[in-house]
Amino acid sequence: MDAWIGLMSGTSMDGIDAVLVSFNGHSVEVHASQTLNYPDDLRHRLLAVSQNQGTPDEIGELDTLTGALFADAACQVIEASEVSPTSIRAIGSHGQTIRHQPTGSAPFSIQIGNPSVIAERTGITTVADFRRRDMAAGGQGAPLVPAFHKAFFNSGTEDRCILNLGGIANITWIPADDGNPVTGFDTGPANALMDAWCLNQTGLPYDADGHWAEEGTVNQALLHDMLSDAYFSRPAPKSTGKERFNLEWVKTLVRRHPDLPAEDVQRTLLQLTVTSIVQQLPEVPALRVYACGGGTRNPVLMRELEQALSPAPLAITSDLGLNPQWVEPVAFAWLAQQSLAGQPGNLAEVTGARGPRILGAIHHA
Ligand SMILES: Nc1ncnc2c1ncn2[C@@H]1O[C@H](COP(=O)(O)OP(=O)(O)O)[C@@H](O)[C@H]1O
Ligand SMILES: [Mg+2]
Repeated sequence: MDAWIGLMSGTSMDGIDAVLVSFNGHSVEVHASQTLNYPDDLRHRLLAVSQNQGTPDEIGELDTLTGALFADAACQVIEASEVSPTSIRAIGSHGQTIRHQPTGSAPFSIQIGNPSVIAERTGITTVADFRRRDMAAGGQGAPLVPAFHKAFFNSGTEDRCILNLGGIANITWIPADDGNPVTGFDTGPANALMDAWCLNQTGLPYDADGHWAEEGTVNQALLHDMLSDAYFSRPAPKSTGKERFNLEWVKTLVRRHPDLPAEDVQRTLLQLTVTSIVQQLPEVPALRVYACGGGTRNPVLMRELEQALSPAPLAITSDLGLNPQWVEPVAFAWLAQQSLAGQPGNLAEVTGARGPRILGAIHHA
């Protein structure tokens, strides 16, 4: 049996999600999984660099430190499993995005977490740097998970939408008829703005279980201003990040509505996540939405989403056999498998690349 490790840390910069899996046709067996949280100091440094602060020295150091932590996450997931390290073919490491600028005259996307350090410390071949080849081919470099969603969550009978609620929200619509192309793009913020406002106002990195948001009420005028951001009406392919949706974005709009209680802003940001997602879902009858990512652990967000989607049901990916927390890291384990097999990892119809491309740089054991 070949086993694979997937390592992922998204825009939330909360920590590294690690899985050790094997693939069997269209099913995934998760042998071990765990999250290694970033220490506060490292998280704050990463947040600063992602806001376009930081010298080459700072970025270089963070690349090494983050790489070492990704290696630790891989070692921990191996230890937690019964799988022999010799059967692990490769690690797929997304790394930590510190900047994603998919448009303009010189588009780029930077993920740090030095993969040479991961290969050296684990003794396992490490595939990383998945986004840049797609971008070089004219694509957004994101989202990359739709190819995995298509391979594993395609039903052939129902129109399915996989909704990932990370820092940013992205959707993958897999039509019931597999002859039709998959649609996938970032819809905008999921948790990123709620986390940023919560940290700024309360000092806590996120609004646990949505309790604080629940104390507030939606301010319709603020919600309207937020939804006026041009990103929401832009056609796909599109991808975004904290470069656009950040604390400054929130503060600029909040200033137009003086004296709003902070919890009303939080509740409005939650509603922004819900409304922007629902408005951008494909208009097909009997669409079934399956959510994954950290946002599934926020009961207020899930309740409001369910209500906005009604009468369409809201499910989670556990109903398709994969825990919502592990979908993204499993996708990067699969992307490593694709790279080593010389198979494409992008869906050109999603990213806008000129065609399918074999993604990733291979750092040998
Ligand atoms: N119990 C919870 N209550 C509310 N929000 C939560 C909870 N657990 C996780 N989250 C949210 O999920 C985010 C992490 O989700 P994740 O899928 O790891 O995103 P990313 O891919 O951007 O790292 C946290 O930053 C937080 O906003
Ligand atoms: Mg995360």
